[in-house]
Amino acid sequence: MQAAKFSRIGFILSAAGAAVGLGNIWKFPYITGEYGGGAFVMVYLVTILFIGVSLLIAEMLIGKKGGEDAVTSFETLAPSAKWAWAKAGFLFSIGLIIMTFYSVVIGWIFYYLYVSVTGLPTTLEEATATFDVLYGQSPYLQIGLHFISVVLVALVLLRGIKSGIERFNIILVPLLIMILLGLMVYAMQFESFSKSVAFMFVPDFSKLSGEAIIRAVGHSFFTLSIGIGAIMAYSAALPKHTNIFVAGLWVAFLDTFIAILAGIVIFAFLFQFGGEPAKGPGLVFMSLPVIFAKLGTIGTVIALIFFLGMAFAGLTSAISLVEPSVMYLERRWGWQKKSAVFGSSFLYFVVGVLVILSISDGFKEPLTFGTKSLFDVLEFAVDSFLMPLGGILIALFVGYAMKRDDVEAVLLGHMGNTVFKVWYFSIRFVAPLAVLFLAYNALYL
Ligand code: PFF
Repeated sequence: MQAAKFSRIGFILSAAGAAVGLGNIWKFPYITGEYGGGAFVMVYLVTILFIGVSLLIAEMLIGKKGGEDAVTSFETLAPSAKWAWAKAGFLFSIGLIIMTFYSVVIGWIFYYLYVSVTGLPTTLEEATATFDVLYGQSPYLQIGLHFISVVLVALVLLRGIKSGIERFNIILVPLLIMILLGLMVYAMQFESFSKSVAFMFVPDFSKLSGEAIIRAVGHSFFTLSIGIGAIMAYSAALPKHTNIFVAGLWVAFLDTFIAILAGIVIFAFLFQFGGEPAKGPGLVFMSLPVIFAKLGTIGTVIALIFFLGMAFAGLTSAISLVEPSVMYLERRWGWQKKSAVFGSSFLYFVVGVLVILSISDGFKEPLTFGTKSLFDVLEFAVDSFLMPLGGILIALFVGYAMKRDDVEAVLLGHMGNTVFKVWYFSIRFVAPLAVLFLAYNALYL
């Protein structure tokens, strides 16, 4: 039953593939735009460095040492602890909740593959119109595209994740970096380039609202894929002698690098063509197509490659989002793989349809809560509560439920004594407190 092991580079790129997804290219730029740039990015970077990486390593530790689905690993690693509430399925369900909107956005990317071929919009107004038609007025098209995404993810899951994910990521993560670097070189000719860099890196703390801090901290969890057992599931297939610390740093580095690169490119083009940074979820889908259109024929080819790369980045993350649930149903409930994949997929497909209706004219009213659509509500809940809760559970588990000796036995050789002490302190005190602060504050927004 145990999955085959990753190669070391295969693991790093696969975990990076899980981490690098729509969060980096779609969400990070638009929330950076929404919350004012530099100061927001700074909170994000600090959180990744001081909390995110610690939790990432903790989650990898549970996966590697436990070697099983999340619940079984928890039981094996701390047999006397009572984690019934965790078993109730938070690790099993958060990924599916994320997929209810993640898969919808993957569907949008499919649509933009089609737009790339049939004619890219050449002005920001045209691009906005193209996106608005998709976003607000085409529920059936969106449901169809969402369905295609669900089926693709299910097919890969059915075939087993190792060969699919490892192979996809070894090709696609470097390809994505090359595409973004290429775009950055192009964008460097613009006057707006320095403005974009300044927007991303020069903090204006007057723009840093409480909500911005919470979004930044929440997104640092989301982007690193912490707290839902996905990295844990992959880490169960780590080769024996992999240095978890080094692998974790690589994953965090690649993830951050790609997000920053995407942000700089997108804002450079956006400023150059007179767009506003605060464009919400449509930012990438409105600004990028115009950029590509300006490049002429090559632009069409790049657009295709870019959206294809983005689709695969999304899909490889998506696979890692559903896998914990599939693994759990198979190993704990004894379901056949087919049933586990079908059951999980069906669940998030149906709720995904509601998510689409919640943003569609004519359907949205019953699915709107206050000013927020179901889409917004789910996204906010994931960022601000569910993933932080997962993070805190992992921190408390490694920091308190597991024996220090057992933790040391794995990690001391990987990170040395001093770093271990700092990491252990972070896991026991800093991470849980920061996460509590996050969840507490989110309640009052
Ligand atoms: N990290 C992914 C992204 O930034 O798009 C999203 C994600 C994937 C979150 C897998 C959680 C996860 F387990």
